[in-house]
Amino acid sequence: MHNLIVVTGGAGFIGSNFILQRMRDESASIVNFDKLTYAGNPHNLESIADNPRYHFVQGDIIDRELVRKTLARHQPRAIVHFAAESHVDRSIRGPEDFIHTNVNGTFALLEEVRAYWSSLGEPDRARFRFLHVSTDEVYGSLGPNDPPFSETTAYAPNSPYAASKAASDHLVRAYHHTYGLPTLTTNCSNNYGPFQFPEKLMPLLILNAQQGKPLPVYGDGKNVRDWLYVEDHCEAIAAVLAQGKPGETYNIGGSNEKPNIEIVYRICDLLDEISPAKGVSRRELITFVKDRPGHDRRYAIDARKIERELQWKPKETFDTGLRKTVRWYLENEAWVRDVTSGSYREWIATHYSG
Ligand code: NAD
Ligand code: DAU
Repeated sequence: MHNLIVVTGGAGFIGSNFILQRMRDESASIVNFDKLTYAGNPHNLESIADNPRYHFVQGDIIDRELVRKTLARHQPRAIVHFAAESHVDRSIRGPEDFIHTNVNGTFALLEEVRAYWSSLGEPDRARFRFLHVSTDEVYGSLGPNDPPFSETTAYAPNSPYAASKAASDHLVRAYHHTYGLPTLTTNCSNNYGPFQFPEKLMPLLILNAQQGKPLPVYGDGKNVRDWLYVEDHCEAIAAVLAQGKPGETYNIGGSNEKPNIEIVYRICDLLDEISPAKGVSRRELITFVKDRPGHDRRYAIDARKIERELQWKPKETFDTGLRKTVRWYLENEAWVRDVTSGSYREWIATHYSG
């Protein structure tokens, strides 16, 4: 069996970073199976579009026939499943797409992957892996003095997004337990870095601040998130794929807990340093707005299992990662222009209208 991986959702933020990183290995071939929703952007992968080791299939993971044909044609040794609806605020306004993709889509994918895997002979069957990329949001919200989420923390999802991801995690678990499918699940904290769609906090702040627009902070700005540079997440996924034990879950995080308001200050100050605006501090743009309904107060990840068992550690500190991220958005104006048209403007206008 050759070294080919099918990646679902590879035109999104983390998926495209993962594909670009893995393609640096000359022996790797990747098939990217992506529906190209508003969050999927083929421009992210322009630099490898003509590489014969890369192949793109536009499709919905719920389309079982297309998934079946793709697996039969390409004979992957592994699936890395990123495809999802991923934005909490959108899940609050319209949960249906989240059930479609995250729950029913993952179910459809698992069924087809199970059939494909069952048809393999040894040793390919033993070597095959299905890696499911999930989130720390399945664990719910922490109090100020609670220990960080570990792999044994009970699930308590609070948003439709988190509930749909929790459902998909449970399906993956069941497919291992019941059918023996060699699954791996990763639960990661908040990512940041290049190619993140600017409806999410960090790129939204960077772009608004550059354009002198208000910087919307939900509630009191004291909700805490645990931030990890996206390339560190991608390396962790690669480590789990290579050495993880089937049936296991691995929590991934960078031990970078920060209240949102601190993120806002850091981005304002970095922009004032790198790209000063005449006579004004970006902090003047900060605007407190109505809170997200059911807004989880604090997330924090205990990543000791993956550090101990797979010798993974993040390479970036929060300072180096944030600097790289801010510079990337400043240097990639064409990408920004491309994604901030059409449906993006509609989302911003509707969501922040109050
Ligand atoms: P994203 O929204 O940027 O990208 C999602 C991708 O999936 C897009 O390319 C989209 O076109 C594709 N997609 C959506 N529905 C599809 C369908 N039905 N069939 C095929 N493709 C479909 O998401 P992201 O931020 O890159 O997140 C990727 C994964 O990582 C998700 O599963 C998410 O839950 C998980 N995750 C994200 C973070 C984070 O901070 N962004 C943290 C932990 C885990
Ligand atoms: O924890 C992992 C999760 O991180 C992933 O599973 C999700 O896919 C990803 O979107 C992210 O979820 P969050 O809800 O934490 O990310 P978001 O960027 O939407 O918000 C980060 C924090 O900033 C959160 O506390 C809400 C707040 N926020 C967000 C926006 C968009 C604001 O204060 N203002 C805003 O305008």
